[in-house]
Amino acid sequence: MKAITVGERELREAVTMKEAIDAVRRGFVDLAGGEFEMPTRTALRDGQFLVMSAHHRSTASAMFKTLSVNFERKPAITGTVVWSETGRLDHLVADAGAVTALRTGAVVGVATDLLAPPDAGRLTLIGAGGQAPDQVRAVHAVRPLRQLTVVDADRSRAQALIGALEPELPGVELLTATDAVSAVRRAEIVCCATNATSPLFPESALPAQVHVNAIGAYRPTMRELPDELLASSTVVVDELDAVLEESGEIIHALEAGAITKDALTELGTALTAPTAEYGKRTVFKSVGVAVQDWAIARLLADKFLA
Ligand SMILES: NC(=O)c1ccc[n+]([C@@H]2O[C@H](COP(=O)([O-])OP(=O)(O)OC[C@H]3O[C@@H](n4cnc5c(N)ncnc54)[C@H](O)[C@@H]3O)[C@@H](O)[C@H]2O)c1
Repeated sequence: MKAITVGERELREAVTMKEAIDAVRRGFVDLAGGEFEMPTRTALRDGQFLVMSAHHRSTASAMFKTLSVNFERKPAITGTVVWSETGRLDHLVADAGAVTALRTGAVVGVATDLLAPPDAGRLTLIGAGGQAPDQVRAVHAVRPLRQLTVVDADRSRAQALIGALEPELPGVELLTATDAVSAVRRAEIVCCATNATSPLFPESALPAQVHVNAIGAYRPTMRELPDELLASSTVVVDELDAVLEESGEIIHALEAGAITKDALTELGTALTAPTAEYGKRTVFKSVGVAVQDWAIARLLADKFLA
């Protein structure tokens, strides 16, 4: 066996955010078309270790990812992505932390492009950790930003993120805050990327028209969004089975009777049968599914496997 290894630097040099968004969009369209075999991921030690896999039928290719998640450690997410194709002897092995951040940004780019108003350009990002830079890059790729407010419980992390992103965001007004409630009041787009276990703001704090992405909660014990927001919004999810098993906010809202399963639309379905009008408030909830990793791994395989 021959393995080609792709680290974070090579990944960043090889794949732009726009390419990642397009690849992840195509992946979700194929998912809706039944092209993937994609079991719900295995979570060990209450989500501290994860195993994910996806097989794309028509290309006979598969992606396997293992992750270790530990919020006491920076980076919180480490692991390995392996790409394999029937008939090939060589494999591609990539840094799962980098792939995860890129594909989690990319899916938010896909959803924001679909759901946010065309002129939305004021973003509030809550959570300035490992996922944060690609959340901003992805939104900026589909809705060029006029203003970015970064909120983190630890203000120095918000400031460090603004400092790191400044060269990529010329002309964008850059602000930091520690109070999420006031920071979402005038937002046109909100991204939640924290490891919080209770809602980051009440529904009443949001303006009448807003698109909210929430990627932080990936266990039933974690929540970023209040039930009232889910009840009063068009809610798109990455994959129904995955959010029913893992999203604390969806599980909580269903158990509280605030929403029903019928109110949830999968991203792939929304992409293949877009609605003209989604309403003034839209939410995209993602726990992260293997098709996203497959889409990025395929881009890498095209570029690195001869
Ligand atoms: N949906 C997905 O596909 C996906 C992918 C990767 C990571 N995640 C999840 O996203 C979350 C963030 O991941 P990360 O790698 O950036 O983690 P991280 O630990 O690097 O960063 C989390 C940040 O959130 C901040 N924070 C926590 N609670 C907060 C609150 N109540 N208000 C403001 N800030 C708060 C922390 O101070 C920290 O800076 C984690 O829960 C992770 O498991 C989801």
